Amino acid sequence: MSILDDPIAANATPSLTEAPSGAPDHLVAAGAFSEEERNAVYRAIETRRDVRDQFRPDPLPDALVRRLLEAAHAAPSVGFMQPWNFLLIRQQETRERVWQAFHQANEEACRMFEGDRRAHYQRLKLEGIRKAPLSICITCDTTRGGPVVLGRTHNPATDVYSTVCAVQNLWLAARAEGVGVGWVSIFHEEAIKAILGIPEHVKIVAWLCVGYVDELYDMPELAVKGWRERLPLDKLVFEEGWQDCEDM
Ligand SMILES: Cc1cc2nc3c(=O)[nH]c(=O)nc-3n(C[C@H](O)[C@H](O)[C@H](O)COP(=O)(O)O)c2cc1C
Repeated sequence: MSILDDPIAANATPSLTEAPSGAPDHLVAAGAFSEEERNAVYRAIETRRDVRDQFRPDPLPDALVRRLLEAAHAAPSVGFMQPWNFLLIRQQETRERVWQAFHQANEEACRMFEGDRRAHYQRLKLEGIRKAPLSICITCDTTRGGPVVLGRTHNPATDVYSTVCAVQNLWLAARAEGVGVGWVSIFHEEAIKAILGIPEHVKIVAWLCVGYVDELYDMPELAVKGWRERLPLDKLVFEEGWQDCEDM
């Protein structure tokens, strides 16, 4: 007999719109922040940078790392799946092996550009794996929560989207703490999985280089170095449906 056929059990089940009797509803005031608080949030968003080279070598205090991880863990996730894990890598030897994996993939990436563009690519520094005192590998366990996860059924990629939300939370919290973060994606995933013993069903979403910084670029480094400009926001906003746009 299912719960729906059992009148006693069915009556005992709260309806979707009612909180269980006696339980606090957990609703709290949610007005706008004060001007100072708002400015701090926007300042973190606007001045966050991808850092490749400005890392100081001094280690980050455990309590600070914990705050960054708490910020990441507060991210939204599909069906509250929380598919992330955070692998903290401090050992120089491990970071050296990961750098070798980056280096090999970076050589391959470089060959995909021609002429001046290739020479330009070669001059860019695209990681801080050896320089930053801490790396955090953020993964997505595609099996967490079982085979059917609320909200993910029609778009399995939402587990990875959720993990990216955790990355961004950590990145913004780090900015507020005076800590730089650089996202490295130039490697063959299997190479890093082998180094860290990550199982088959777990995806690597981000390799983050993390460390204190005293200076940051005031605009994306790739723009400073002439690789690519920020697109005008107005060209990216469409009213009520898709509109024709030039190639960007
Ligand atoms: C998914 C993702 C992967 C990235 N991978 C790399 C990378 O491998 N190497 C690198 O130098 N920057 C990487 N970046 C950083 C971007 O280049 C950077 O966000 C962009 O140039 C804008 O600069 P900003 O983050 O300082 O505003 C990555 C960013 C994202 C979101």
